[in-house]
Amino acid sequence: TGFITIDPGYKNSGSCKSEITFLDGELGILRYRGYSIEDLAEKASFLEVSYLLIFGELPTTAELENFENNIKKHSLVNEEMKNIIDGFPKTAHPMGVLSALTSALTAFNPKAVNVDNEKEMYEAICKTMAKFLVIATWTYRKSMGYPLNYYDNTKGYVENFMQLMFQLPTGPYKASPVVIDALDKLFILHADHEQNCSTSTVRMVGSSHAGLFASISSGVSALWGPLHGGANQAVLEMLEEINKDGGDTDKFLAKAKDKNDPFRLMGFGHRVYKNFDPRAKIIKKAAQEVLETLGVEDPILDIARKLETAALEDEYFKSRNLYPNVDFYSGIIYRALGIPTDMFTVMFAIGRLPGWIAQWKEMRENKEPIGRPRQIYTGHALREFKSNK
Ligand code: CMC
Repeated sequence: TGFITIDPGYKNSGSCKSEITFLDGELGILRYRGYSIEDLAEKASFLEVSYLLIFGELPTTAELENFENNIKKHSLVNEEMKNIIDGFPKTAHPMGVLSALTSALTAFNPKAVNVDNEKEMYEAICKTMAKFLVIATWTYRKSMGYPLNYYDNTKGYVENFMQLMFQLPTGPYKASPVVIDALDKLFILHADHEQNCSTSTVRMVGSSHAGLFASISSGVSALWGPLHGGANQAVLEMLEEINKDGGDTDKFLAKAKDKNDPFRLMGFGHRVYKNFDPRAKIIKKAAQEVLETLGVEDPILDIARKLETAALEDEYFKSRNLYPNVDFYSGIIYRALGIPTDMFTVMFAIGRLPGWIAQWKEMRENKEPIGRPRQIYTGHALREFKSNK
């Protein structure tokens, strides 16, 4: 079998070559297809960035229009999907429901996509972008006991998200442009992050030639964990707990440093960034702006700032290069926009969707072999069978 090296957590193993996202963890640099995250967050729209990630170049006006129109064309979700949602208890976590619903989409779109056929791929991509957004909001509507909304083809993608979430049959709904802009930016910042846990999962599942919906569904499950995307929910719950406890950030910092306590400072640390996460910098500024513009005063923001300052000055965090990551401030914005805490990771999933699609497409186009790591066996040698009955 040859010589096998083990690298738990793949800390030093590359799994593929990729042209999509460049990340320098020492310098805190993140670029999609060569464009800096700072530029994209400031100047591009989420659909424009999605197109860039998936197809490799920024779209022209006509290409972007076509992309958006095709997404609209696919925005209806089969009514039978509602029976599946109804099978879940109202208390189910939205991420579990989202993963199941994404997988269930396969039942209504059973035909395997021929990845060598550009048109088929394009349709599959637009279908995924459209239906995923709708079902993501349905997880929330279900938990609230509200009727499910439909995509409104007169509105943009991000505006649709707000409308799908919050429009009630009892009256008109109009999302504020400030809110739409803030969300657009947040989705861009989450759109791709090279071979993170959920993306590697999508590539791995897809490497068996499983379909796009099935692969994305597995990405949702991987993202859910608190060490990955689930951290944004965990951060807010932590900040709320500190607030309830009287705002004693030092106490929680001490807990995070205590090796006998499993508590970790959520929203801090990163496998690759050993410097400030560039996304966290942008989100921190955006959080301040959004709260000011919307006139929201939130003690949680002050606690986050206090915690951040204390951690950055602390020897434990300094010596381990632990800085705030993308999840540290995002929840504060979501909260100001009225997004419930258990939907935070779903927000991350909506943002990450184009990245998952782009990586799945690249993996299939590069004709990568099935992912199949080896192991070093540490169990019993051959044993003679003797029943224990
Ligand atoms: N609080 C306290 N100590 C920490 C933290 C933290 N948040 N993060 C890492 N450490 C310590 C860890 O105990 C270890 O210490 P020692 O060397 O004494 O054993 C050292 O720092 C290195 O940590 P690690 O767990 O070996 O690093 P990793 O690369 O395996 O883990 C991580 C990275 C992101 C899972 C981890 O930093 C963590 O659990 N952070 C909190 C959860 C979080 O915010 N996750 C979001 C990640 S960013 C976006 C995303 O993927 O969603």
